[in-house]
Order: sequence, then C-alpha cells, then structure tokens
Amino acid sequence: MARMAEEYARCAPTSAAVQKRALRVLVDGVSNALRWVEPFPPRIARARGAWVEDEDGNRILDFWQGHYANVLGHNPSVVTEALAQAFAGGFGLQTGFVDRAQVAAAEILCRRTGAERVRFTTSGALATMNAVLLARAFTGRDYVLKVGGGWHGGQPWALKGVAFKNGFDHADSRGLPPTVVDHVVLTRFNDPDHLHDTFRRYGDRLAAFIVEPVIGAGGMMPATRAYLHAARELTRKHGALLILDEVITGFRFRAGNVGATYGVSPDLTTFGKAIGGGMPVAAVAGRADVLAQCGRGGTVKFEGGTYAGHPAAMLAAKTMLAHLVAHEDEIYPRLERLSALLRRTVTEAFAGEGIPVRFAGDRNADLPNNSLHMLLFPYEEGRALDTPDEVLDPNVCDHELGERVFRLAMLLENVHTVHGLGATTAAHTADDVAFLGEACRRAARRIKPFL
Ligand SMILES: Cc1ncc(COP(=O)(O)O)c(C=O)c1O
Repeated sequence: MARMAEEYARCAPTSAAVQKRALRVLVDGVSNALRWVEPFPPRIARARGAWVEDEDGNRILDFWQGHYANVLGHNPSVVTEALAQAFAGGFGLQTGFVDRAQVAAAEILCRRTGAERVRFTTSGALATMNAVLLARAFTGRDYVLKVGGGWHGGQPWALKGVAFKNGFDHADSRGLPPTVVDHVVLTRFNDPDHLHDTFRRYGDRLAAFIVEPVIGAGGMMPATRAYLHAARELTRKHGALLILDEVITGFRFRAGNVGATYGVSPDLTTFGKAIGGGMPVAAVAGRADVLAQCGRGGTVKFEGGTYAGHPAAMLAAKTMLAHLVAHEDEIYPRLERLSALLRRTVTEAFAGEGIPVRFAGDRNADLPNNSLHMLLFPYEEGRALDTPDEVLDPNVCDHELGERVFRLAMLLENVHTVHGLGATTAAHTADDVAFLGEACRRAARRIKPFL
C-alpha cells in the first residue's frame, strides 16, 4: 500500500496539494466518507460519460458514477443542455414557488411505478426517514423492521445493523435516541424463514418493513422473488406497511420501479439517485391515504425542505425521467449486456492471473444481468455469497484486499472503483470494459506477490 500510495502521489500532485488544504477545513477533506480515497481522493475537474478527469489531467474510467446515480454516465447532454437553456432564460435557482417541471416529474413517477402520490425531498435519507415517519403514524405502531446490512441513508431508524461486526445486531452510530435503536428490529436478507419468524414475534408491533429489492451497500445483490413476495404477504397479514427502498434501483433496471419487475406492489417506495438526473432529488411515492398524512391539515411533518422541488433539480429530474422512458428499450438491454460482459471480463482477468474472484449474489437468477457489481475475493471456492451476512463477513471474503488494496491498485490503472467495483452505465462501452479487464490483469499481477 505504501509503495502504491507513493506512485499515486507522483501521478496526482495537484490532488495531493488540494487535499492538504482540504484537511485544514473539512473533516477528512471531504463531505461524504465514501469519497475519501486512500491516500487522498483525485480532485475532479470535469466528467463526461464513463470518464472523469482530475486536476492533474489524469483520465479515470469511473464505476462509482455519482454513488450509482448516473444511469447515463456523467453530465449527459440531454440534461446539461436543458439546464443551460433554462438558466439562460432566467429559470433555475431556487424561487420558493412551484413550477410545472415537478408536476411532470411526479406524473412520470406515478405512471411508471403505480404510485398514487409523490412528495419530493432532497436526499434518500430524508425520503426513508419520512417514509418511516408516515408508516409509524399510519399504523400507530413503534417498531421498524430492516435487513442486517441494509443501508437507507444516515437517519435515526436506519443507523442500526448496517456494518458487519460479528453480525449486524448493533447501532452504527453513537448519539442515537435509545428508544429508536430499541425499536429497530433486524432480519436476514433473502431469508423468508427468518422473516416468518420475525413477524411471528413482532408482527403486531411492526409499523413497517423497509427493504431494498437489490441490496446496495450490503452487497449489490438482488432479492429473490420468493423473499419479496413473502415480505408483501407478511406485512399485509400483520398490518404493517411495506416500504421498498428503491433509492438505488428506481429507474436503474427499467424506466420505473424494480418492485414491478418482481410483481410486488409496496405501500410506499423511496426514490433518489437516478431520478434526479444528477441533481439532489429524492421522493416518497405510494398510497394516497398514507401520504395524505403529510398534506394540509395532516399530522405528519414531512415538509420536503427548503430546497425540495428545486426548479433546476426538478427540470433535471423531469428531463432524465422522460428520456429514460422514451429510450427504455435501448438503455436497459444495453446496461444488461454490458453488465454481463463486465462480470465475464473481470472474472477471466483475475482467473488468468490465478486469483479467484466472484460477484456478490452471482447465483441469483431472479434479476439477471445486474448492473451493480460488488467484486469479492472469497477465501473458499464455491461458497454461497447471497446475503450480507456472507458477503460482508471478513472471515468469508478478504475485504482488506477488495476495498483497500484493489481500489488503489485500480486507481493506478486509471480506474475508479468503490465497494468492490461499482455500476455500469449506458455510457460505458465494450472498449471501456476491455480497458477495465486489462487494468484488472495488471492490478492482479501487482497484488499477487503479496497474497
Ligand atoms: C438504498 C439506499 N437508500 C437510501 C440512501 C440514502 O440516500 P442519500 O445518500 O441520497 O441520502 C442510499 C444511499 O446510498 C441508498 O443506497
């Protein structure tokens, strides 16, 4: 790591210098822990499509793609041109009024996801927090069920059972109200038996089950069909709401929600990332009677926020959503093809150098050709890697290698990866995947002598 860090510092002197300045004023020099890169992050000057360029002129092939938000890659012209035109015409920054862009965005969301009502906010965490608030108020119950390894943003009901520390049964942050921590119950992803047991024990106290149909930080693994259907059945039977957290998956697998792909109709869905077209937009969408609680005269204070429904953000959202719908038949099959090619290419590159790798959830056939990729270095061949409990356990996979060593080795090859690898976008090409394969081969050769 020390040798690679020195080499990287020689390639990126400007980023190194900016990081020194940043450390004097920003916590760790960044505003989001995931953007801290060891030994320092590249400072990006421009980004287009699959590539970003740092202040030292290094062109980097990016698989992080704005926290998986960029389904079309960085700065797609369809959005930037709409924004440039709007700004030139005197529309874009906050007004505190409403405009027609957010109506159009909400119409697309409702039409493509089966939601009856939408309320926009500015981050996925606020969306999931308010979805929980709505569910607790609607049911008059206190408890919230979530998956061990599930990430729903930095909000009180989501900061339990995220990181693996000999299991998930712990709070992930200090400073939380103890009653909130006590009221969050954990279950195992993709384990319908455990779900049945949990509902048997807590069913009459649960306000909601919040779950990602493809678990993100917990391993980029799709839920099985049987699991999501069990979730729908059990929540309905016990009078709890089903909240599908589609902050990552919404409009990434189709021009709509992925719940529909599974044939599951939740009470509420949270959206974020892709729906903003690169702007900070998130939403709670779903049943009109549940969302009515935050309407005029309602009792739930889900206000959205000062910048909720921000004009430029809503214009970007509307433009992106309309584009994804209009080009659905082209964009999503392309994403699937590239994703399958990427997995084959990376696996073969490492195998060729004698390092066995796997992708988390690679045996799941319910949602094939997943465009979200967590590359793993398992200790044992043939092991099941289908739940966060398996994937995030440091005794099962070498995370030091996957998250630290591989990441820096890849950065030296001008490839940016996070959480094992990242996301394919419609902007990536077969040539980009070949570039990634070559980078993996060289990184593997660099790493191999130290394994
Ligand atoms: C599934 C899921 N839900 C919620 C969030 C929180 O979104 P945000 O970071 O916009 O607050 C994230 C963020 O990564 C996420 O992956």
